[in-house]
Amino acid sequence: MTPEDKKLVQDSFAKVVPIADQAAALFYQNLFSMDPSLKPLFKGDMQEQGKKLMKMIAVAVNGLDRLDSIVPAVQDLGRRHVNYGIKPEHYDTVGAALIQTLGQGLGEAFTPQVKDAWIMVYGVLAGTMKSAAYADQPVAAAAG
Ligand code: HEM
Repeated sequence: MTPEDKKLVQDSFAKVVPIADQAAALFYQNLFSMDPSLKPLFKGDMQEQGKKLMKMIAVAVNGLDRLDSIVPAVQDLGRRHVNYGIKPEHYDTVGAALIQTLGQGLGEAFTPQVKDAWIMVYGVLAGTMKSAAYADQPVAAAAG
């Protein structure tokens, strides 16, 4: 990830922060329309859940310049997700819902470069979470 990619992600996220609650609500709407079977996995208050999600994305976005410092927290987050019933393949759906939501929230500011930079950031986060959580599981078995 180049310094330019990091800046694209940080600057575009700054535009989402003022509309974080709406963005989170839209994200879950997108996610559940992509895969309604994910809905029962969320048991808490969705507004609270949305706040936690946005906060964690903010931590990651702000931590892009020193990724090493956030890796342990992201690994723990990945391990906790196993207890929430999350399977490795769910990460692709969440990534797609996130990208869709950013596109809706940012409009024209969601240029192809911004999109690619976000795909990279999400890939790093999801990859770190999954390898911590499912390390001892062969990928084929995990997907089955
Ligand atoms: C980069 C990826 C992700 C991030 C940053 C993220 C962030 C979070 C955070 C901060 C929480 C609050 C609880 C905690 O800290 O342990 C949480 C809970 C949760 N997440 Fe994620 N998550 C990610 C991926 C996913 C995926 C792929 C799914 C699959 C559907 C998912 C479903 C859930 C569920 C079901 C909960 C628990 C909700 C409840 O308590 O009812 N997350 N997530």
